[in-house]
Order: sequence, then C-alpha cells, then structure tokens
Amino acid sequence: MKNILNKNLDLKGKKVLLRVDLNVPMENGAITETSRIEKIIPTIKLLLEKQAKIIIISHIGRPKGIVVEKMSLKPISEKLSFLLNKEVFFNKTPINEIAISEINKIQNGSIMMLENIRFYKEEETNEIEFSKKLSSLGNLYINDAFSCSHRSHASVEGITKHIPSYYGLQISEEINALKKITSEIEKPISLIIGGSKISTKIKIINNLIKKFDNIIIVGGMANTMLKHSGISVGKSICEHKCGPLIKEIIENAKKHNCEITIPTDVIVSKNLDGKGKEKNINEIDEDEMILDIGPKTILSIEEKINNSKTILWNGPAGYFENPNFQNGTKKILEIISQKTTEDKIFSVAGGGETVAVINKFKKFDSFTFVSTAGGAFLEYLEGKTLPAIKALNKNV
Ligand code: 3PG
Repeated sequence: MKNILNKNLDLKGKKVLLRVDLNVPMENGAITETSRIEKIIPTIKLLLEKQAKIIIISHIGRPKGIVVEKMSLKPISEKLSFLLNKEVFFNKTPINEIAISEINKIQNGSIMMLENIRFYKEEETNEIEFSKKLSSLGNLYINDAFSCSHRSHASVEGITKHIPSYYGLQISEEINALKKITSEIEKPISLIIGGSKISTKIKIINNLIKKFDNIIIVGGMANTMLKHSGISVGKSICEHKCGPLIKEIIENAKKHNCEITIPTDVIVSKNLDGKGKEKNINEIDEDEMILDIGPKTILSIEEKINNSKTILWNGPAGYFENPNFQNGTKKILEIISQKTTEDKIFSVAGGGETVAVINKFKKFDSFTFVSTAGGAFLEYLEGKTLPAIKALNKNV
C-alpha cells in the first residue's frame, strides 16, 4: 500500500492533490454535521508538517454536472479553515481555466480548495482529458475519500492513471478496520438498512442476502418494498421502477434463508415539518408520507438485534432531522449501543446520515467501528473491489 506515512516520501514544496469527501449534511446554507470534515484533519496536518502545497478536491451533493450555487464548497472551506485555525484559499476558477502558474504560486505548507468537482459533467463520466487536466495541477495525488471509492469518477479513479498516487491516513484506517471486521465477523449477522439513497442501495441488498441472516429494511427503502407489495404509501419517498428487483430480492432471500423484515407500523404526516401520527401500514392516506417506523416495528427490530452476534447499520429509520420523526432511529441507536457496551454484540455503522445520527446523540464510542462511508461501506461488505481502490493499487 503506497501510503503518505512513508518516511522517504519528501513532500516539501510538492503540489499535493488531496481528494477527500466533504459531502456533509447542510440545511439552509449551514453545515449541520462536521464529522467528515474533522476526519480529514490528521491527513491535512501531516501534509502541512511536511511543507506540502495542498490542493483539496471534493464534492458535495449530486449537482449532476452543472453549477448549483447552494452546492458550493465555499462554506465547507470556511469551516475547515475555522477548525484548522488556518487560511484555506477557495479557488472558484473552472478546472479547465486554472493556470499552472497560478497553482505554482501557492506557498509551502498552505491550503487551496477547488470548487465542487461534480459541477463538471466530466467528473462522473470519468473523461480522460478531464482526469489529465486535473492531474496536471499537482505533483502527486492522495485519495483520502474511502466513502467515494465505489465510484468510477475522474477524481478518484481516472486521475490515478496520470500521476503518482497514494493512500491517505483516513482511507487506510477505514480499509484496515473493515478488513479486520469482515474477517472476524460472527453469525448470526443482521443488517439494518435505511436512509434516502434508495436507488444505490436497493441493488446492493440483493447481493448482500447470501451473507446475512437478517436484513431489516427501514427508511425510504422500506417504502419502496411496501409499495411493491401492494401497500399504498401515499406521498412517501420511494423508487418506482424496481418491481422485478424486489421480486428477485424476496426470492433470493428465501433461497438463502435470509429473513427480510419491513415495517408493520409507521409514523406518518402530511408534511416534513408536521407532527407524527401512528398508523398500521395498511392505513396510510394518499396525502400522507411515512416519516418514521412505529413501536411494533421497533420491538421486532429489538428482538432481531437481541438474537444477533453482529449488527451492521446503514441509514436512518426516518426523517430524524425533525425530532417528531427521530424516535425509530434513536431507539435503534440506543439498542445497538447498549448491547455493544455490554459486549453482547459486535456493531459496525456506516454512512453520512448514520454518522450524523450517532454524532447527534453522542454515541460514537459505543460502536465497535463507525465508517464515514455509506455506499462504499455496503459495496465493501459485498466483497467487491472498489474501483478507486483498484486504481490506486494499479498505480506504480
Ligand atoms: C457518500 O455520501 O456516501 C459519498 O459522498 C458518495 O456520494 P454519492 O452516493 O452521491 O456518490
């Protein structure tokens, strides 16, 4: 593993392109959770000590190749500057217009942050010319974004073909911890999966069935399962075109003896700011949306956790940003953390929203391991080699 800790790696005066994941939750322009920013600080401090010129590359959200002002990284650069107590120069110049002479002016031991890399469509399509231009801005590249490493994008995959590339501290820590955990895992294993990124995760569930004894589906994904089993979910978020996939999930689960649990009762409301109302899943009105799981569902999840040796958790059970809909997520968090503290289970949690919940309720220390990654964490559990990791290993 080519790691930046390597003592022989002389970084003094070198332009280091550092890819990190600053995809943090934001509300009305304000950052609501900073774990992902805090996690990259050790790598930045090490690079500063080594007198490198740091050029930070990151994304936030899914702007799909166009400039979306509210997805600018400017506020994140200000937060990073505050946390480091050091200036972070924010460079809005489009990548194709950045002159090397401008980059060369950066002082040793200083930091520049580029604008959201997903403002360029070439990032997600992984265009060779774009990767080349990006790589020309630096002398070497560091990937410290494990949570983006399941994407074949230019700033994590393509770029490694044009510049000496290294693992950062955080990505190394995550991979080492996940390697250890997946090799020591004890059965019965239960996966609790929720959150709002339905399209990414629903395919992954199908591949995870073979590895788990229980898959408990909550959040947006559960709405999709309910809808496709003929239940009216009103205005709830859900994926509409995945009937055949859900059929396959159900058949696969039977074949591999994996029990799938979906909510039997829920908390609904007519809007996100509203108050919650408890309902059985067959009582949801057209103008209502599911925003949390109900008490019967919580009890059945507790029973599954009690009968497990290992719990993997990705994605909240509801719209926890509104306290009226946080109960299910909070209860899951309390049950897992108590069992882990009593040494009865081994628990691993992952994902941006999940980390935000764990942080909100100050339970970081009562999990065996917390990964910043969501989709990448699940694909790693599937046993896949993540494209950006493969690319880093190929780079010589
Ligand atoms: C994440 O939040 O898991 C990463 O930032 C990747 O985001 P994506 O699912 O939009 O690629």
